[in-house]
Amino acid sequence: MFTQDQLKQMVADAAKDEVLKNMAPGGILGIGTGSTANLFIDALAPHQKHFSGVVSSSQASTDRLKKHGFIVLDSNAVTGLPMYVDGADEINPAGHMLKGGGGALTREKIVAQLAHSFICICDASKEVDVIGKFPIPVEVIPMAQAQVTRFLEELGGKVSLRKVKGSDQVFVTDNQAWILDVAGLNVVDPVRMESEINQIPGVICNGLFARRKADVLLIGGANGVRRQTY
Ligand code: A5P
Repeated sequence: MFTQDQLKQMVADAAKDEVLKNMAPGGILGIGTGSTANLFIDALAPHQKHFSGVVSSSQASTDRLKKHGFIVLDSNAVTGLPMYVDGADEINPAGHMLKGGGGALTREKIVAQLAHSFICICDASKEVDVIGKFPIPVEVIPMAQAQVTRFLEELGGKVSLRKVKGSDQVFVTDNQAWILDVAGLNVVDPVRMESEINQIPGVICNGLFARRKADVLLIGGANGVRRQTY
């Protein structure tokens, strides 16, 4: 039996092989955020010369990439990326994901949108039939917090303002915004729900990645890494 950390390491290594096999030398790679993405960054570090640069989805990943010596490019400097590699908090059988547990959802969506192929890496605990057990993160402009909360409650959600772990301080994103975590929504139509939440004035972005879903899933379980395409 593998531990969750071992499963994350296995998919991080598999993603490194996937990227090196499918990307020609000199390309630019998109890189996500979170504990699984961190392991991927570390696994890729010895091969960084394979890439002319990377685009990162958070300050935390940028710091880690730079520490390893990667050239980190501004997302405005690229018009497209062959691949984007990132974790997920939930993924359903269609490849729709829920992301943003680490608070980087907006930048993740921006970089993912630039990519031809989204490679999702996660352990088997993230696989779900219906998205919504994990609260949906919604990044908001602070002045709209109360209003957006009311809208989300009308949709049936139980809303809480994200705080820094172990403290009473409000969690502030890389975009100087706040996050509302919405529990209790049964997301039977993720594409529709993603759009519906995005229509609320003051919402910057939400953690449903349904319109831009995964193209490839590398998932770690008891039998090793399974590769699946959508
Ligand atoms: C960051 O904002 C998230 O979208 C992460 O990609 C997601 O929460 C997965 O994180 P872990 O790899 O740490 O589970």
